Amino acid sequence: MTAIFAPTFPTKHNKMIKKLFLLLTTIVTVSLLVHQRSLLSRTVYSFDFSRPFICFHTIFDRKPKHTNVAFLKTHKTASSTMQNIMFRFAERHNLTVALPVESCGHRFCYPNSFNPDFVHPHTKPPNIVASHMRFNKKELQRLMPNDTIYITIMREPSSMFESSFSYNLNGCATFRRVPNHSLEAFLADPRRYYRPDEKDSMFARNFLVFDLGRDNDHPATDAAYVQDLLAEVEQTFSLVMITDYFDESLVVLRHLLSWDLEDILYFKLNMRKEDSKQTLTPVLASKIRAWNSLDTYLYDYFNASLWRQILALGPGCVAKEVRELRQAQESLMRSCFNGKVPLSPSGRVGNKKLHPWRPSGKVEIMGYDLPANLSSDQEHCLKLATPPIQYTQLLRQSQSIRSRQNH
Ligand SMILES: *[C@@H]1O[C@H](CO)[C@@H](O)[C@H](O)[C@H]1NC(C)=O
Ligand SMILES: *[C@@H]1O[C@H](CO)[C@@H](O)[C@H](O)[C@H]1NC(C)=O
Ligand SMILES: *[C@@H]1O[C@H](CO)[C@@H](O)[C@H](O)[C@H]1NC(C)=O
Ligand SMILES: *[C@@H]1O[C@H](CO)[C@@H](O)[C@H](O)[C@H]1NC(C)=O
Ligand SMILES: *[C@@H]1O[C@H](CO)[C@@H](O)[C@H](O)[C@H]1NC(C)=O
Repeated sequence: MTAIFAPTFPTKHNKMIKKLFLLLTTIVTVSLLVHQRSLLSRTVYSFDFSRPFICFHTIFDRKPKHTNVAFLKTHKTASSTMQNIMFRFAERHNLTVALPVESCGHRFCYPNSFNPDFVHPHTKPPNIVASHMRFNKKELQRLMPNDTIYITIMREPSSMFESSFSYNLNGCATFRRVPNHSLEAFLADPRRYYRPDEKDSMFARNFLVFDLGRDNDHPATDAAYVQDLLAEVEQTFSLVMITDYFDESLVVLRHLLSWDLEDILYFKLNMRKEDSKQTLTPVLASKIRAWNSLDTYLYDYFNASLWRQILALGPGCVAKEVRELRQAQESLMRSCFNGKVPLSPSGRVGNKKLHPWRPSGKVEIMGYDLPANLSSDQEHCLKLATPPIQYTQLLRQSQSIRSRQNH
């Protein structure tokens, strides 16, 4: 019996036939996929993600890594984690990162509109930019190489706003006026507290639109304005990542820039402690979306775009790479932390270099409490855990030294 079912050992000849067959199957599948893309777009969300798809794109279309990238760092969108990915990529590839002059702080003199004068001369000409700014396309184009790929990130508006509300409770006058620091009270009548002309008022309404350099108080009933906004963002940014699908976004980014899996590994940064977060009821969430309707238009539009890009790559391919990313992440965590992830509230992070900035006594931000004396082969663990302000200082120093050596 066993003899009958035993596999025949492949000779050279039928090995070749197998290869040909595989190639043929591949071609047929690709053309089917392309042909059915419009059909699939209706059904993708019930698509069987576990079906193994080959990422054709990576096999046939391997390009050198793209190294000129402008990441518009938006607020409350996991953009600190993304900035850390960009900073580490730049360091590993000896690239130059545009950083703010000291007088601008760790942001490009936000909320002023971006201007190349805000950029530290030792960090010019740059390959990468990834710090907070109020976007100004024309001015940024004057700074960046002309083959720069522009990307940004957006988050579902109700959770994004809830995050801003708790983070900026003391920083933003609008929120300070709200009785009992109550999000419910604010949303019952936002205009009672909101003054558009006050400093930092943008954090109280459509702050995504503000970060994109547009008017966050423009009436959302102006359909032409909304159309123009969407068109401009779409034309400028090759990829709008979505926080709610962060790993999927990273996989799309990796393909766009021809980066390796290693280039998109991360530890989450600038997270609030669980009890500093408020769970939103559906009613509250829809009030937030109504108050921030420009941001909501943006989010809904670009969330749909992301899923179209995922579809174009092959949902199975993306799902497979997301699994690989998470596995690689876990083994990185194990190698850096020996099993137990040392996440602590900022106040209890002993290593000053890893101390996350926290906005007020009301909100607790989590940091990684790694010892300061890690061995040199664990240097990368420190970098993965370094908060934005410290990493900015670190890079400003190292790039200044390099710039002086070169001149
Ligand atoms: C970066 O620069 C260092 C020192 O000059 C060099 O040893 C290394 O090979 C460079 N790495 C890359 C990826 O160019
Ligand atoms: C980009 O800049 C390079 C060098 O500065 C130039 O040679 C090239 O023509 C430019 N390309 C475009 C598309 O403007
Ligand atoms: C603020 O809290 C107090 C005590 O819990 C309550 O009596 C009052 O109604 C609250 N005010 C508002 C506007 O929610
Ligand atoms: C994002 O878009 C997908 C596809 O249209 C949809 O299924 C999902 O619910 C959207 N996510 C959010 C948070 O709106
Ligand atoms: C780091 O410091 C701690 C205590 O200060 C010490 O126990 C540990 O051996 C040191 N580790 C290394 C790699 O030097």
